[in-house]
Amino acid sequence: MVTKIIKVPSDEKQMTPEQELLLREAGEIIKKGGLVAFPTETVYGLGGDALNRDSARKIYAAKGRPSDNPLIVHVCCVEDIDKIAVMNEDAYKVAEAFWPGPLTMILPKKEIIPCETTGGLDTVAVRLPSHPVAKRLIAWGGRYIAAPSANVSGKPSPTVAKYVVEDMSGKIDMIIDGGEVGIGLESTIIDLTVKPPQILRPGYITEEMLRGVLEEVDIDVTIMNGSSKQPPRAPGMKYRHYAPKGELTIVTGVMEKVTDYINGQARQDTLAGEKVGIIATRETFPFYYAEVVKSVGSREDEESIARRLYIILREFDEENVTRIYSESLGAKGLGQAIMNRLLKAAGYKVVDVK
Ligand code: TXA
Ligand code: MG
Repeated sequence: MVTKIIKVPSDEKQMTPEQELLLREAGEIIKKGGLVAFPTETVYGLGGDALNRDSARKIYAAKGRPSDNPLIVHVCCVEDIDKIAVMNEDAYKVAEAFWPGPLTMILPKKEIIPCETTGGLDTVAVRLPSHPVAKRLIAWGGRYIAAPSANVSGKPSPTVAKYVVEDMSGKIDMIIDGGEVGIGLESTIIDLTVKPPQILRPGYITEEMLRGVLEEVDIDVTIMNGSSKQPPRAPGMKYRHYAPKGELTIVTGVMEKVTDYINGQARQDTLAGEKVGIIATRETFPFYYAEVVKSVGSREDEESIARRLYIILREFDEENVTRIYSESLGAKGLGQAIMNRLLKAAGYKVVDVK
């Protein structure tokens, strides 16, 4: 299959009538059962018609994804949800506070959503993104777009179109290049079918922010704990996601000891013939010695870290790095989402040098 690649601005004021027409064409592809990758404010998505079983099957095939891992249905206005899911009081509160935006709700599903889209579950994940290109595509594409992240299963989610092209070229009908995304980590997922509501995946909308809107909020214990005996409640969280090819170890402790330990390991590994990469922050970057040292962002600005984390993991792959060491990158607020993704990328391998 030849994949058509189109470029559109992420700022709607700069969108030309020709580009508007291209987005309409993209919508037609979706309506006819084809697949289109598109930018959202979190990461790039791989979109197909959420009401079409065959589209869901094609999405799983293009990603190489297990078909028990359900897809998120994207809508462009809250009113459209009534057709596919059952809203409740808490869901309205969350929607009012955080939509459009980087948040996904799990709700009871209605008949019209095929079980292929929900991986056989009787609940459905719904999200109303804020990205203008995503919103237009959803509107032109029949109003219900199922979209997982646009990466091959197991790789970090793409935050720039270049990596979508790398993973999806030849497998899908179209890729919409809308530049670099704003957030860089996937949406927060909150399950509103349970009481109290439970966070299944941390993201830009933090636990603290949700507590400001809901009386009570739980968090799935497996999120930060790889040795939990319970499986995670979002099926996709059980897979070793976001993983770079090189073996990643997270090192925690007092910063001076962390840098000493990582430098020591890097020296040993290099002598043993490994190519070593280090994930540093702007503040610690000068203290490391290894073949590849990258600053992921500033500790003072967690948003900068979220935006670059997946790009850095992909760059290590491109540079054939075989061993990666990373400092610990946070625990609260947005740091919880960053650390969750880093832990999963590391297969929960953590060394504490306190
Ligand atoms: O930011 C995002 O959410 C991006 C963009 C494209 O919107 N999408 C995304 O989709 O990250 P995906 O498929 O990579 O991750 C969806 C996660 C998976 O872990 C999946 O198991 C979980 O959502 N999920 C979907 N439906 C669910 C359901 N009914 N119950 C529990 N978890 C569900
Ligand atoms: Mg994904």
